[in-house]
Amino acid sequence: MLPGLLALTSCRGEQSTFAGAGAEALAVEALFWWMLAGAVLIWLFVIGLSVYATVVHPDRHGEKSGIRLIVWGGCAFPVVTLAGLLAFGLGLMPELRAEANGPRIAVSGERFWWRIHYGTEALPGVQRSLPLEGVESANELWLPVGRRTELMLGSPDVVHSFWVPAIAGKTDMIPGRINRLVLEPTREGVFNGVCAEFCGTAHAQMGFRVRVVSPEAFEAHVAAQAAPAAVPDHPGRAAFMQNGCAACHAVRGTEAAGRLGPDLTHVGSRRTLGAGLMAMNADNLARFIASPEHEKPGAEMPGFAMLPQAEIEAIALWLEALQ
Ligand code: CUA
Repeated sequence: MLPGLLALTSCRGEQSTFAGAGAEALAVEALFWWMLAGAVLIWLFVIGLSVYATVVHPDRHGEKSGIRLIVWGGCAFPVVTLAGLLAFGLGLMPELRAEANGPRIAVSGERFWWRIHYGTEALPGVQRSLPLEGVESANELWLPVGRRTELMLGSPDVVHSFWVPAIAGKTDMIPGRINRLVLEPTREGVFNGVCAEFCGTAHAQMGFRVRVVSPEAFEAHVAAQAAPAAVPDHPGRAAFMQNGCAACHAVRGTEAAGRLGPDLTHVGSRRTLGAGLMAMNADNLARFIASPEHEKPGAEMPGFAMLPQAEIEAIALWLEALQ
């Protein structure tokens, strides 16, 4: 009983199929409730007939009426009900396959974070060491409300799966191919996305945030992300460059142009760090830099605990200021 109630508490909110914040999720939600209603109806009818035949009137029916019960109650009724549900489900298909009329965004699932490219023809998951066109960000996907956005999903390493339960169904991200997902958020808000395919040690910590905003705010966000960082004059910058961070991370507007890890140009503006792992602030940044393996077992970033603590904190403060 208690586990059931606890499970139900997750049915509302940022990460629920029942939160109804996208056209596809609403279709899936409707399908779920109708399927549940149909299943309950069939169950009640068949169990009711069984009870009627065995308990209420065990002796009153001859062989003929027994067969009639089985044919009509056990076969015909479930078949009709299931056929109705099938027709309803098929009727939802065109809605799920509608063409995009919004922006195109490439998302690449990588162990264990999300590379995001706005306004781009870039193919996700292909040659991540090469600079790609468009505007790169990570772990926080912005979407315009009311627009059918086309996502191009890929992976450079292993199979991941892109899933924002409140907005749409999940789609696998498979190395060597691009999968399309068209989704239409129907209300503004912040939602959680997860990786829905086991991809390694930190699979459970491979999350992201989705921020659904007005089309104008979306355009403004992409324009802001496209701009190089307003780089503050801070000792953390030198520490970042001298200790090899720039080999894997890019900060546009500086000499840091690494492409292996997340683009950090506007990292301080994101709500979380470590792919949804913890809140974005200098303290958490310092902890993550010192020991990613401790904060997120399986993370591919090496730890920097050998640096003086003051230097780690300086890097963290500088990154936090990259808004
Ligand atoms: Cu990526 Cu599971």
